[in-house]
Amino acid sequence: MQQQEIKALLSDMSLEEKIGELFQLPSYFFNGDMVTGPAGELGITPDDLRVSGSCLSVVGAERIHEIQQKHIEKHPHHIPMLFMADIINGYRTIFPIPLAQGCTFDPGLAEKCASIAAREAAAAGLHVTFSPMADLVRDARWGRVMESTGEDTYLNGLMAAAMVRGYQGENNDFSKKGALAACLKHFAGYGAPDGGRDYNTVELSERTLAEDYLPAYKKAIDAGCALVMTSFNTLNRIPSTANRRLLREVLRGEMQFDGVVISDWCAVSELIPHGIAADEKEAAVLALNAGVDIDMASPVYLKNLKELAEQKRIDEKQIDESVLRILTLKNKLGLFENPYKDGSEADEKELLLCASHREAARDCAEKSFVLLKNEDSFLPLKKGKESVAFIGPFTDNQLLYGSWSFFGDEQDCVTVKAGVTQNYPDADVFFAQGCPTADPGTNVLGFQKTPPKEEFDLQEALDTAVELAKKADKVVLTLGEHRDYSGEGASRADITLPSCQLELFHKICEVNPNVCVVLFNGRPLDIREINQKAKAILEAWLPGTEGGNALAGILYGDASPSGRLSMSFPYCVGQVPVHYNHMSTGRPFAGDYRTTRYNSKYLDIPNEPLYPFGYGLTYTAFEYSDISLDSDILHKGDSICASVRVTNTGERPGTETVQMYLHDVSASVTRPVRELKGFCKVFLEPGESRVIAFPITEDMLRFYNITMDYVSEPGQFEVFIGSDSTTSRKAVFSLC
Ligand code: IFM
Repeated sequence: MQQQEIKALLSDMSLEEKIGELFQLPSYFFNGDMVTGPAGELGITPDDLRVSGSCLSVVGAERIHEIQQKHIEKHPHHIPMLFMADIINGYRTIFPIPLAQGCTFDPGLAEKCASIAAREAAAAGLHVTFSPMADLVRDARWGRVMESTGEDTYLNGLMAAAMVRGYQGENNDFSKKGALAACLKHFAGYGAPDGGRDYNTVELSERTLAEDYLPAYKKAIDAGCALVMTSFNTLNRIPSTANRRLLREVLRGEMQFDGVVISDWCAVSELIPHGIAADEKEAAVLALNAGVDIDMASPVYLKNLKELAEQKRIDEKQIDESVLRILTLKNKLGLFENPYKDGSEADEKELLLCASHREAARDCAEKSFVLLKNEDSFLPLKKGKESVAFIGPFTDNQLLYGSWSFFGDEQDCVTVKAGVTQNYPDADVFFAQGCPTADPGTNVLGFQKTPPKEEFDLQEALDTAVELAKKADKVVLTLGEHRDYSGEGASRADITLPSCQLELFHKICEVNPNVCVVLFNGRPLDIREINQKAKAILEAWLPGTEGGNALAGILYGDASPSGRLSMSFPYCVGQVPVHYNHMSTGRPFAGDYRTTRYNSKYLDIPNEPLYPFGYGLTYTAFEYSDISLDSDILHKGDSICASVRVTNTGERPGTETVQMYLHDVSASVTRPVRELKGFCKVFLEPGESRVIAFPITEDMLRFYNITMDYVSEPGQFEVFIGSDSTTSRKAVFSLC
């Protein structure tokens, strides 16, 4: 349709129809023509359902076709509905969780995973995905760190933009087959809740927000992201969903976003418990005035906007503006011509979980694993030369998906045991569970009870595992968090492993010290105890459908680990939020506890995380030359080049992620000790070396200065290049 026709349609719609467009039905409200339980309870009538503009979490080509067909028939103007869902790390083929994708340091790969997810979800009839999440995360207690790509603004921006490209396809023409419209979330600052507790208050200075938190969202918007979701939290005491300045001035004004803004689930009605709206009417006024177009899953708009418009408490023009944006999105998706878009049962059969999608999931999983420790080249395991006991609650466990993988089927997931036995049928291996994923009898998940004590004989499981460990040359111990321990509403104050797993670990180490721990988890954990005794530690995150195959290949050395931490592993929970790019302080701690008491440190733990951002080992070793600068003076408008020669000095091929960090030595405001400004993945054969060069331009040195202008300031800068964020390899240049 031409935009003129959309406008004509809008002017012909009744107020009820227009308000319907601003309402998003959760799937359980939708049951054919009937108003079922919750809809009825919330006062939603069949007429409301008939004009609702979008629906959340209904999937499947056949089901969506049926609902859409009935809907169009009954809608006074036959306007199709939008079908949206959370396709976070895959639809049916499940990729590693986003935090793990961040560890690939490979935006191209994230783009590929997103495009496969889009292809599958589009075949299942969907139009919009609630992804990417570009929230910056620094606190491992927060359960949703698993949905972020990590603690770095620059990396998150690259990843979020890549995912938008992957979902929306070439030129953002998401009407094309296999593409979805993407929804950036959660605007803004959702990743910084006080105490790491989900939905909690967020307080960020204007400078911190602008410099650290907003840029990744901006990158996704610049990439053409079609929708933005508001966040649940307050930001400096104003709930985002009612934050006019944030949504109208920053998002639409400064960031020039012209797409659809949707609230998070019931966030409009939550303005009441937030304490800024006395009732639903006030909540509706606040959210609409702030610029929220769609009210997700709460009936606040639906039930109140008509009366508010009639009473002139809201301007109907605002409703029209929102409806126009939604109709424009429908039009861009091509729904007026083809309301079913790509939904096709035949395509579902052909595409979902097809061999090439599985292959991509395996590739991504392999590249997301981070080798944290590998004493005496413990890994890779030596095929045919050593017996290995695979022990632990994740050994024969298909719950390797992450908490948002609603549409993935766990039956498709390749376990560690299956991966090892299928890929290495001749390997001398044994398997045992050892203990459950969570301590029996606990109910910390809130929505899923762990097995009651009587259903799991802990002692017997432990004894069997210990006997097996005694017989083997090496033990691979699979430990971690049950997948429901991370994700939404899953914050933890204690980020250690469950006690049954730690007991298993210690008991196994007593009988066989040759232990490699493989971790399955959705957040960085406190792994100090493991770190002390394990010979090797491999972080596998929640690796998705092909997790077991990917892991087998890495453990036996047919592939080499290449992932780098996109979020620091804290020394312990008392350190969080901990991140590499913290500010300089007036009393930096130089590392010697004997010198003075009065500097910035803890008395009982180190300042440094256990494993820092950017860190990760592989099966070979790399050597770096000193940094060479082609000039130590950078003129505005010009660029200089910092380069290093990287050599593979080991005996196996491997991939190194060369990272460049910059530091402004003296500025009008305090600057971070260093910030990632470039990275490059390089694959080198043994003995091979390559020069890696990073251009440095003036715009990389900009920040919000003392007057909040985004500028660079002349003076001295340090450039660090190395294999992680702690590298001391440094050169100095000046900006004139
Ligand atoms: O997209 C999600 C969001 O991230 C959290 N609340 C629910 C939304 C829709 O499922």
